[in-house]
Amino acid sequence: MKSVLAIQASPRKKNTNKLLKSAAAGLPSGICEVEIVQLSDFDIKPCIGCHSCIEGRSCPLKDSVETLKQRMVSADALIIASPVYMGGVPGSLKNFIDRTADWFHRPELAGRPILFIVTTAGSYASKTGRYLNSIGMHWGCAVSGYISKTARQTASGRIGKSSVLNSFIRLLIGGSRLYSPGWKNLYLFTLQKVLARNILDVDKNYWFEKGWLDAPFFFPAAILPLKRIIMHLLFNLLARVIKPGQKQ
Ligand SMILES: Cc1cc2nc3c(=O)[nH]c(=O)nc-3n(C[C@H](O)[C@H](O)[C@H](O)COP(=O)(O)O)c2cc1C
Repeated sequence: MKSVLAIQASPRKKNTNKLLKSAAAGLPSGICEVEIVQLSDFDIKPCIGCHSCIEGRSCPLKDSVETLKQRMVSADALIIASPVYMGGVPGSLKNFIDRTADWFHRPELAGRPILFIVTTAGSYASKTGRYLNSIGMHWGCAVSGYISKTARQTASGRIGKSSVLNSFIRLLIGGSRLYSPGWKNLYLFTLQKVLARNILDVDKNYWFEKGWLDAPFFFPAAILPLKRIIMHLLFNLLARVIKPGQKQ
């Protein structure tokens, strides 16, 4: 049985919660178990910018972020559902995402399928969805994409037909090797690999142990040979520009 951890990022249980529950109900029950958690139940202090986590030391802030991060690491797959607030994600979710800066360097969620859900009164759904997709890529996940609905559309309570939900189910059942990373995803992996190799030893050791320094991606995935060649060339180019010893 696959475990799916779903994080509901609206402080109230209304549109986003409804859409999330509808998506969860659309997952094959014999194959996965979904646990929904409220982001507002967790104590999430804003990042103080000390770089401790980035440099491989523990975070000095004492709250429940580490607990949530460990629950995400323990899950087989993830869903994050968020309303649009002022053109982006709510501050509480952004605060949480900021606290995962170490996962940009050492992506502990690598290979986990992830699905995003966005609700809005009408605007900024695609901007917010694209932002969340890129966070999933930074975390090394197999990003199915985002489902977005307006508050009016969520009134029915049904998610309806969704190719993004189907893609998430396919990865959940068939495994992340069915994932086909797009250009942006491959570019981000290549950039993260150059940074890992050239900037911080703690990242280099982590990437070496994972076998990623010579790999085309975080996990075995469906990547066309042409894409592999172009990313190899890009790696050589970036490695010449981003030199060891550069401060971030
Ligand atoms: C503080 C705040 C800011 C919002 N900003 C936007 C916005 O920029 N664009 C938009 O279309 N809707 C915006 N909304 C509306 C919500 O995105 C929308 O009602 C959403 O479905 C709420 O989700 P919920 O019912 O799960 O809380 C905002 C709502 C709040 C409370």
